[in-house]
Amino acid sequence: MKSFLEPFRIKTVESIRVTSREEREEILKKAFYNTFLIPAENVLIDLLTDSGTSAMSAKQWAALMDGDESYAGARSYYKFEKVVKDIFGFKYILPVHQGRAAERILFTMVLSKIDSSGRYINDGQGKYIPSNNHFDTTRANIEFNGAEAIDLVIEEGKKPDVVHPFKGNMDIEKLKRFIKEKGCENIPICMLTITNNTGGGQPVSMENIREVSKICKENRIPFFLDACRFAENAYFIKTREKGYENKSIIEICNEMFSYADGCTMSAKKDAFANIGGFIAMNDDDWYIKCRNLLIITEGYITYGGLAGRDMDAIAQGLIEILDENYLKYRIESTKYIGEMLLENDIPIIRPVGGHAIYIDAKTFLPHIPANQFPAHSLTCELYLTGGIRAVEIGSVMFGKYDENGNMIPADMELVRLAIPRRVYTKSHFDYLVDILKEIKKYKDKIKGYKIIEEPKFLRHFTAKFSPI
Ligand code: F0G
Repeated sequence: MKSFLEPFRIKTVESIRVTSREEREEILKKAFYNTFLIPAENVLIDLLTDSGTSAMSAKQWAALMDGDESYAGARSYYKFEKVVKDIFGFKYILPVHQGRAAERILFTMVLSKIDSSGRYINDGQGKYIPSNNHFDTTRANIEFNGAEAIDLVIEEGKKPDVVHPFKGNMDIEKLKRFIKEKGCENIPICMLTITNNTGGGQPVSMENIREVSKICKENRIPFFLDACRFAENAYFIKTREKGYENKSIIEICNEMFSYADGCTMSAKKDAFANIGGFIAMNDDDWYIKCRNLLIITEGYITYGGLAGRDMDAIAQGLIEILDENYLKYRIESTKYIGEMLLENDIPIIRPVGGHAIYIDAKTFLPHIPANQFPAHSLTCELYLTGGIRAVEIGSVMFGKYDENGNMIPADMELVRLAIPRRVYTKSHFDYLVDILKEIKKYKDKIKGYKIIEEPKFLRHFTAKFSPI
């Protein structure tokens, strides 16, 4: 059955400004061929990210009105804390303005020493932080603190067309070898990203979470989850892993987090919030250190850079994300797009992940070499032909240079179509598929791009390009 039920009714709408191809050519040129630099009102279907772009429910909007804006001890905080504890189970919860703030606090803490006068001195050199795959801000926060971010995803997770139910899993043998080689004293923390965004929105199995946790415990390495898309991961466990068919989503979540010492969370994903996040943990000493870092840049411990009402929206969103009917729709609707693309021989990462479709641009545009950025070309083409905004996850985002200035390409050249939660309908998805079918007709004529200006760090956000 191809149809799926959108388990919500639309109550408020936002108009889309429809543009012509000619207009879009002008707009893209003005944006130096970087879709990040296009004003959002010039986009028809915005699949740049699923982060902070969710449609809030009527109950979330109502909850906003109940926000308590007290500096300390707001009612909103206690409501938020209770819901987070019920699902995640950790002893301490600190709100932050978004996921990367949680990452900054966590890595500043684990990659520093505190001197006799209470100052944090960076101690990141020679330290390693393994994960299945680190998301780019996670990696940047680790590197900014002088340590190395290590990706140890299973081999299947690096191959777009290899089907595996849990392609986000960490390679257990690689992890054991890595710990032996580098020494547990140089690994202050180990992480797992659920679902694995960088690797294609792929889930991690409960068995893998349990195993990684066991190895970390044996080596006295604290273990954290990057929990942004935890509920989508839980749904995959329920539908793909033996023994979980009859468990509720909250039971699965409770078990996942029971294996970890803490987590970082961007509430902009699986909490249906437009802003917010948190860092959670069990360790008393780490809590005190994180609390200090939170107060310096985010705010007091019961609001952490958020308005009270934001915490109300997150609390309500977290209750809603546990709804199995919603998760079924979410996973099935993403899969629907993926299957339509596969039927039309448009290569994508298989199986389809939770929050996004990843087109394999290396296979789709084999005539464009990595140093001319095939995934970037396809991203531009999606905008020109359909007004659709996607994001390149390839050599623009992850390419590096060797000592001679030659580019070391990324493993994969992907275009991510991230699906905002509860925002677009099946007609929008059909339009997206039709645009890709159109592009396929003339794909051999699509040209590559060169970078004409780039910053040293996180270049994909602001680099300027010109067509070749
Ligand atoms: N971890 C993962 C796995 C993420 O996907 C993101 C954000 C973050 C951490 C950082 O959270 O944005 O709230 O600071 N991902 C967004 C994306 C930006 O488009 O995939 P944040």
